[in-house]
Amino acid sequence: MKGIILAGGRGSRLYPLTPSLSKQLLPVYDKPMIYYPLSTLMLAGIKEILIISTPEHIDIYKKMLGDGDWLGLSLQYKVQDKPRGLADAFIVGEEFIDGDKVALILGDNVFYGHGFSQVLQESAKMEEGAIVFGYYVQNPSEFGVVEVDDEGYVISLEEKPKEPKSSFAVPGLYFYDEDVVNIAKTLTPSARGEIEITDVNLEYMRRKQLRVSMLGRGFAWLDTGTCDGLNEASNFVRTIQKRQGLYVACIEEIAMTMGFIDGSGVLDAISEGKSTDYYHYVKNIVERAHERKPGL
Ligand code: G1P
Repeated sequence: MKGIILAGGRGSRLYPLTPSLSKQLLPVYDKPMIYYPLSTLMLAGIKEILIISTPEHIDIYKKMLGDGDWLGLSLQYKVQDKPRGLADAFIVGEEFIDGDKVALILGDNVFYGHGFSQVLQESAKMEEGAIVFGYYVQNPSEFGVVEVDDEGYVISLEEKPKEPKSSFAVPGLYFYDEDVVNIAKTLTPSARGEIEITDVNLEYMRRKQLRVSMLGRGFAWLDTGTCDGLNEASNFVRTIQKRQGLYVACIEEIAMTMGFIDGSGVLDAISEGKSTDYYHYVKNIVERAHERKPGL
């Protein structure tokens, strides 16, 4: 399975922070926002990843993450010249996907929770159809909303409904089989002029191939699309990190934990940050790799 991070969009809810800065480069506490979705794909075991961004910002991502070799990844980059919608990621990424299965994550989605790696790795083993997630929120009207029956089957799925039929929002993380590119190509733009990911999911629902995996109340799915959301996500990450001394979304640590790299070259790759806590955290992980306890 391959992965796509969509790091485009106008970021209009964060004005005046954006558009001069790409939203997904803004800090969530001590890391650029994109580290969080990147770490989610890595925890799913996905190593071939396409980053899609705007013509103005794509080079910054290239400079920041390079070809991904230092993390044991293969990173590619592609421009989306206009924000045509989330489903456009599959059209822009068609060549990269090259007939494979693909996971899409939105560059502003931050997830955190015990057992998340297992959920992700199970999802990445999917044979056919699509998997989305459900997460209880107090403001479902701002998201895609899914309604499921007692057996976990999808009854309805609506994009930003005024009168939501449930409190379960669909986060910006999706797993699809090989058909997703063709489905995306058949879509017509919605009232906001975009081809909607919800329409892709509705097609899988019609085919009875849409599964929903519920993320329980012990999970955090955080919104970083507004100034308050960004600040709350930063505080959340800071609180966890200070309490445990374990980092959220440290991509070098994850690359080592997942066995993508052995850690030998990683300190050279981040040597620019030698004076930071982040560097020392990674250094400690490299030096004590043999002492790592299961479950961390
Ligand atoms: C998009 C999707 C929506 C989903 C949300 C998650 O909304 O259209 O279904 O719940 O991402 O972040 P947008 O951020 O484009 O308004």
